[in-house]
Amino acid sequence: MIHVPTWVSGLTRRLSPWNKEGAQRRTGLKEARTILAETGILLTQKGTGEVSGQVLIDIGSGPTIYQLLSACAYFEDITMTDFLEVNRQELGLWLREEPGAFDWSVYSQHACLIEGKGESWQEKERQLRARVKRVLPIDVHQAQPLGTSSLAPLPADALVSAFCLEAVSPDLASFQRALHHVTTLLRPGGHLLLIGALEESWYLAGEARLSVVPVSEEEVREALVLGGYEVRDFRTYVMPAHLRTGVDDVKGVFFAWAQKMGVQV
Ligand SMILES: C[S@@+](CC[C@H](N)C(=O)[O-])C[C@H]1O[C@@H](n2cnc3c(N)ncnc32)[C@H](O)[C@@H]1O
Repeated sequence: MIHVPTWVSGLTRRLSPWNKEGAQRRTGLKEARTILAETGILLTQKGTGEVSGQVLIDIGSGPTIYQLLSACAYFEDITMTDFLEVNRQELGLWLREEPGAFDWSVYSQHACLIEGKGESWQEKERQLRARVKRVLPIDVHQAQPLGTSSLAPLPADALVSAFCLEAVSPDLASFQRALHHVTTLLRPGGHLLLIGALEESWYLAGEARLSVVPVSEEEVREALVLGGYEVRDFRTYVMPAHLRTGVDDVKGVFFAWAQKMGVQV
């Protein structure tokens, strides 16, 4: 395990509508740096021809867009998804640049900085808005998570999912099943970028204390292998004590890059 440097930390999922004020008060970049950096690094593997395609689906987007800031450079057709309508509405505000939308510009600026391509944050946000073609309901506990007549082009070339599967699964078996369900959306040979919390059992969303199934690195790896993936990269980060602020009991963060096995089409 790598220790999180002091400048990287945190789980951006706290930037949910229920916690928007808090998020806007501390627009310090702490929250997004790890995720942006890692997602960016993984997705730029496309430059070597390893992660490529047209169609990307973000599983359990929540009300957040940070997880796609780097990815949007590589996929022209992006679908965002969430179980809750309130989160889908929040995404709609940002995508349509409507009043009350959350200001992600600090995150967009940071994504541009770490990518180092000289792109402006405004251009990055424009590209993401243009490439997100739809925001759809999803339920990862269903065998067909997007329903039977999905508007998303399937199968996808890649899936991104950040802090969703463990947060919505009551136990490990449910986590494994949810992973299996979303894997049906991915083409053989397609890529999964899975980001999540390690050994977390609860987190606060505003007043609410939400349960999370605590998963270890070994359990996530095993779930991926059982789910029909070859694990291409797996990194874990320890949450240092001074960043354990009482809003959860998370012990670390994992970043998995996995490729669905089977014949490529
Ligand atoms: C911890 S949040 C993560 C949100 C976002 N991906 C992020 O990184 O901040 C988990 C998300 O899963 C969504 N969710 C809840 N139940 C779900 C289900 N059955 N299927 C898919 N998503 C679900 C929640 O609405 C919430 O937005």
